[in-house]
Amino acid sequence: MLNIGALASGRGSNFQAIIDSIESGFLKAKIAVLISDNPEAYALQRAKKHGVETLVLHPKDFHDRDSYYSRIAKEFKTRNTGLVVLAGFMRVVGKSLTREFHNKIMNIHPAILPSFPGLHGQKQAVDYGVKISGCTVHFVDEGVDTGPVIIQAAVPAYHDDTEESLSERILTQEHKIFPLAIRLFSEGRLNVEGRKVVIKGIREDVFIINPPLLSP
Ligand code: GRF
Repeated sequence: MLNIGALASGRGSNFQAIIDSIESGFLKAKIAVLISDNPEAYALQRAKKHGVETLVLHPKDFHDRDSYYSRIAKEFKTRNTGLVVLAGFMRVVGKSLTREFHNKIMNIHPAILPSFPGLHGQKQAVDYGVKISGCTVHFVDEGVDTGPVIIQAAVPAYHDDTEESLSERILTQEHKIFPLAIRLFSEGRLNVEGRKVVIKGIREDVFIINPPLLSP
């Protein structure tokens, strides 16, 4: 069974979607630990409610980024973590983690990458005036939202959208494609070939616009 290590900084609705997918049987996995950089993160309360171990590690308690991410990598390795998920982790992860978990770290980003990487992807999309927006699950490399794309979902963007209204529409899709990507990983169906993620045994066009929730 896949052991997931999670990192989250805030609200944790994506983290909750992963918990729900496990509890419903959609995902055959276990969350070994949630590590947060923010003691106030609501994600921590969600974890406790569902019996998931929590750990708060703050970068300011470490000499540098390298020792911070080495410690995180160590905590995950100790718990036999096979996949790290960034569920609203508001930092760029360091090399000491990405090296240990090469193509084993997933992030959810609220834009159709490579458009609008970094912070406030939804606001960037609203300000730019795009007609289609959405979200991306990708493997994490050393850049900012630059790793190989696993799944994307599209939503319409309207002229009168605010950052909030677009974020809400995108979030509904985030909660579908993040568990789906994790499930495909847990089933050994994601092959990374250079920049491309090849999904074995599934027609990729089923993901267009509204990614389905596979039955348990
Ligand atoms: C989401 O919009 C996600 O795409 C981004 O950060 C936000 C986290 O939201 N990476 P939540 O904490 O999962 O509710």
